[in-house]
Amino acid sequence: MGRKTKGPSSSRSWDAVANWYIGWAGAEGSRHHRELAIPAAMRLLALRPGERLLDIGCGAGALAPSVLAAGARYSGIDNSPKLIAHGRRHHGSEVRLVVADATKLASGSAFRREEFDAVSFLLSLQDINPLEAALASARWALRRGGRLVILMTHPCFRIPRQSGWGWDEARGLRYRRIDRYLTPLDIPMQEYGRKGRRGRGTTRSYHRPLQSYVSALAAAGFVVDALNEIPAPALPEETRALRLSSEEFPLFLAVRAMKSC
Ligand SMILES: C[S@@+](CC[C@H](N)C(=O)[O-])C[C@H]1O[C@@H](n2cnc3c(N)ncnc32)[C@H](O)[C@@H]1O
Repeated sequence: MGRKTKGPSSSRSWDAVANWYIGWAGAEGSRHHRELAIPAAMRLLALRPGERLLDIGCGAGALAPSVLAAGARYSGIDNSPKLIAHGRRHHGSEVRLVVADATKLASGSAFRREEFDAVSFLLSLQDINPLEAALASARWALRRGGRLVILMTHPCFRIPRQSGWGWDEARGLRYRRIDRYLTPLDIPMQEYGRKGRRGRGTTRSYHRPLQSYVSALAAAGFVVDALNEIPAPALPEETRALRLSSEEFPLFLAVRAMKSC
């Protein structure tokens, strides 16, 4: 499943699955958001009071409460009007949430060029296409020396429809199977939402190998200065073999890059 990613094509709105996503993640994020993704992104962002952050592909703004708690200012953009409307109702007037296309921020944007000290893609960059246009938007929004933090499902180990767990009976261990890796893929995700209900739909995910991300960051004028690989926490009731594999194969990748001159 999944076909080679072709030239420029803008990613679709998540409106069709917005009700399902809100039900799963709410406006403050799922358990994985709260326990892993948000703390990891906040550590790399290292926001200081008064700084401005732009969250690209923000959904309903799950990152907003942590940014406000750090004393910084939160703005988010997403091209799903339903997710933005839900975020506005939940977070109120302290945050600025705008419907916009992450691949075209510079043209007709609600924001000013170089307005932000930091930009984040929280679990969104792997759902946005094309990558180069999304990074150009981040560069446009950031001040010189500003930082970009990307938190995504690990592109080496968590490839939708092309990776999974397997069990090696003879060695008594769980292994990670990777079917395809180097080819960039445009992957239709499973249908979300209840059968027969409105709000059922699919989204697309864009697999890229690690080299595509690093090359695109360099081409967009970013210098990577931190990278963390984050495993899912092992559950106490899991067997040793399951715990070991959970600890060895990261779920998320977090990258920080600075905007060079
Ligand atoms: C997995 S959700 C993550 C949302 C949010 N960051 C969170 O962690 O809850 C991916 C988000 O990317 C957004 N997205 C995808 N393509 C986009 C585009 N071209 N412009 C703006 N947002 C986009 C979707 O609407 C969706 O809200």
